[in-house]
Amino acid sequence: MRGAYGLFFLIVCLLCLSESHEIKSSRQDVRKFPDGFRFGTSTASYQIEGAWDEDGKTPNIWDHMTHNEPCVIKDCSNGDVALDSYHLYKRDVEILRELGVDYYRFSLSWTRIMPNSFPDKINEAGVQYYNNLINELLKYNIEPMITLYHWDLPQKLQELGGWTNPHIVDWFGDYARQAYRLFGDRVKSWMTVNEPYQICNHGYGDVLKAPILNMKGVADYMCAKYVLLAHARAYHIYDEEFRASQGGNVFIAFSAQWYEPESENDIVAAQDCNQFLWGLYVHPIYAENGDYPPVVKQRVAAKSAAQGYPRSRLIEFTPEEIQYVRGTSDFFGLNHYTTYSVYRNESVQGYYEIPSLYDDAEVILYQKTEWSLGETDLVKTVPWGFYNLLKQIREDYNNPPVYIIENGFASQGGLMDDDRVQYIRNYMSAMLDAMQEGSDIRAYSIWSLVDNFEWMKGYTQRFGIYEVDYEAPERTRTARKSARVYKEIMRTRSLDFSFDPSDITMPLDEGH
Ligand SMILES: *[C@@H]1O[C@H](CO)[C@@H](O)[C@H](O)[C@H]1NC(C)=O
Repeated sequence: MRGAYGLFFLIVCLLCLSESHEIKSSRQDVRKFPDGFRFGTSTASYQIEGAWDEDGKTPNIWDHMTHNEPCVIKDCSNGDVALDSYHLYKRDVEILRELGVDYYRFSLSWTRIMPNSFPDKINEAGVQYYNNLINELLKYNIEPMITLYHWDLPQKLQELGGWTNPHIVDWFGDYARQAYRLFGDRVKSWMTVNEPYQICNHGYGDVLKAPILNMKGVADYMCAKYVLLAHARAYHIYDEEFRASQGGNVFIAFSAQWYEPESENDIVAAQDCNQFLWGLYVHPIYAENGDYPPVVKQRVAAKSAAQGYPRSRLIEFTPEEIQYVRGTSDFFGLNHYTTYSVYRNESVQGYYEIPSLYDDAEVILYQKTEWSLGETDLVKTVPWGFYNLLKQIREDYNNPPVYIIENGFASQGGLMDDDRVQYIRNYMSAMLDAMQEGSDIRAYSIWSLVDNFEWMKGYTQRFGIYEVDYEAPERTRTARKSARVYKEIMRTRSLDFSFDPSDITMPLDEGH
């Protein structure tokens, strides 16, 4: 009898530890955002601009890959035209105005500005395009927030090894300096690099992003080191040459999902998973002593030795490099979408390729079917995972100021996106819970303003709060229900679960 009650209590407690959060989040009807909290939306150059070879732009790694191996993309498509934002940027600004955002986060195409990869040649037409976009935003009081690197490396630099060549620290620094010089009089928020995990682990350690190198457990770790050093270089250049006169901020956007233990036996496994999958990039910048997380350093070094490598596959930082990288982000930029359940038992032996990051981490992850909102959703909805992540960031890194740079939901389409509305509301509510407990979160941006080229998924996954008609030459952008809900959240600076957006008019819709 006692044993049965004990077990019952344990189960209830496990449930209440992880899942009680959901109940708390959706119960309250109207929740206010604090004064000064800012809202925006996000996009990236290759996903929307098109005009891949116009006005002097040269190929980047996505142009190269999609032209050489089109069907590595699910629908064999590419970003040659995309939303044609290179020509239609005024329409993008129009929908940003109609939404009422505080800022718009977009990225620069390196080869549009520097077609030779290096600053020996600045392409005036490319500079003009970004000047036009920036000025159009400022005209309507929308802050431009720029990502320097959102995955479209110059193809020539890739041929020199890309993010595994130590010289990229100089190359990226040179590019950043030009961007600050050209646009920094008007742009005050700079993100250096978007999602180092995806750049390195998807692009160098796998076939999930360009340049699909698939050198697991080796190239991904090399990339990690030089992405972090290049980011730090761009930060120091701003600090030393521009901050005094331009007065802006420089930060990095990490991708971090939440990894929840499958059972109480998996708590250490889930901790390790969080360290290998995002701590690897966060720890060197945010931990008090910098450097890679100790568990990652030790595990990779031990496995490398056992596997016959003369040195760790995770190339260590020198003490000078540790100091150079530590503390180089004015905000903790966070891209978050979903949660995974993590376990570790015998079945992890031989589960992954050796070597690989996942074999080093010794974890197996999966998502639960009950986390789905419907049959067509492509992002599992787990708001309490977002809350747990924000709590861990607050506790592990001394409550840094956080910008949520990306959060969003993918579907296969339709204007009545009740599933996306539910996702956004519940994630914002979880964020407000973390803020009530002291998390210093200052901004929230939805990925994405518009449907766009979703990397290896092509145009098959739609993340936009505006739907895009890819058949129409003007790539017609139409507000979804979620756009109306988001507009009301920004107008009232509050989250109201009962608000029905059906009678919100989007005045600028007319005539398009
Ligand atoms: C490992 O754990 C998973 C998830 O709990 C389970 O499905 C699997 O059967 C376990 N494998 C072994 C070998 O114990």
